[in-house]
Amino acid sequence: MNNKKVLVSGIQASGRLHFGNYFGAMRQNIALANGNEYESYIFVADYHALTTVKNKEALSKATLDIVANYIACGLDADKAIIFKQSDIPEHTELCAILNNVVTVPYLMRAHAFKDHEAKSKEVSAGLFDYPVLMAADILMYQANTVPVGQDQKQHVEYARDIAGFYNRAWGIDYFKVPREYILENVATVPGIDGQKMSKSKGNTIPLFGSEEELKKLIMSIVTDSLTPEERKNPDENIIFNIHKLFLNDKEVSLLRSKFEEGGYSYKEAKDDLYNTIIDWRKDKKEIYNNLMNNPKEIKEILEKGAKKAKRKASETMKDVRLQTGLDF
Ligand code: ADP
Ligand code: TRP
Repeated sequence: MNNKKVLVSGIQASGRLHFGNYFGAMRQNIALANGNEYESYIFVADYHALTTVKNKEALSKATLDIVANYIACGLDADKAIIFKQSDIPEHTELCAILNNVVTVPYLMRAHAFKDHEAKSKEVSAGLFDYPVLMAADILMYQANTVPVGQDQKQHVEYARDIAGFYNRAWGIDYFKVPREYILENVATVPGIDGQKMSKSKGNTIPLFGSEEELKKLIMSIVTDSLTPEERKNPDENIIFNIHKLFLNDKEVSLLRSKFEEGGYSYKEAKDDLYNTIIDWRKDKKEIYNNLMNNPKEIKEILEKGAKKAKRKASETMKDVRLQTGLDF
């Protein structure tokens, strides 16, 4: 097709995207995908989401929501190939083949599996096999780069290993060994309770919640009992640590001084954060709302992306079926 490097990035469709996702991953993915260096495959990992989501409305809503979020935040649908994983069943076919070059003890070393086991949860076969499906996602498009946060590093290492296992098993040098691209300088975004912002902790601020919801969430950010007059240490303050992500260096130092000098109440600090977020998302929210009110448009984006992804995926599967002797 062309000589661009290939970038693959999946987003699990398991809930509304929040500012942890935005500053931790989305923003960087969008910048890379909108640039000219990569051919980018950005997809909603809906097969993967089935490990946790067992409600059809929730899954389809989350899928639409992810696409609307990404487009509203600037992802260029004419440049990136945006699709949903389940529109390309080749992912599961490749996963079924790759399952034969990984062993059970090897998959038992995966963090996600171990974490679930430790909580004595019953682990589904889908969750156990999560890393192999993810390897299939990545290898399918012969990715050079998979931009991920620290938490996904092991999964990309699995994909690298599995590329090698396949190549050795069939004695060919076919799958490219992908490189992870750990997003640099990505702070862990705190949630409203000060722990890492995460869906599973119920402490998130979604990008495009209603104004009432946003206000309520910001007002419930945990603070200490310092009076408005007292000086405050911004670095230990959750409001500051969230607010600074939206600001340039100059604005950050201005905000820092407000905390340090005293006379800046938490109420004021929260109102300022609220206004910053409202301002940040003003234009984006309109795009988001328009798309969510018009799911047909989102489906069209996904169909267009699926057509392009399908082209590459069927090429890969044609090769794999010949290499393994399934086709002859
Ligand atoms: P959640 O913890 O809400 O389930 P995911 O695990 O789906 O979020 O994360 C998707 C992406 O967003 C990952 O690349 C992850 O590194 C990033 N991310 C999630 N939460 C945060 C956070 N609080 N700070 C920084 N990055 C985050
Ligand atoms: N496991 C990733 C996450 O939870 C989502 C994902 C699925 C993915 N397949 C992928 C990410 C392929 C990058 C490449 O964030």
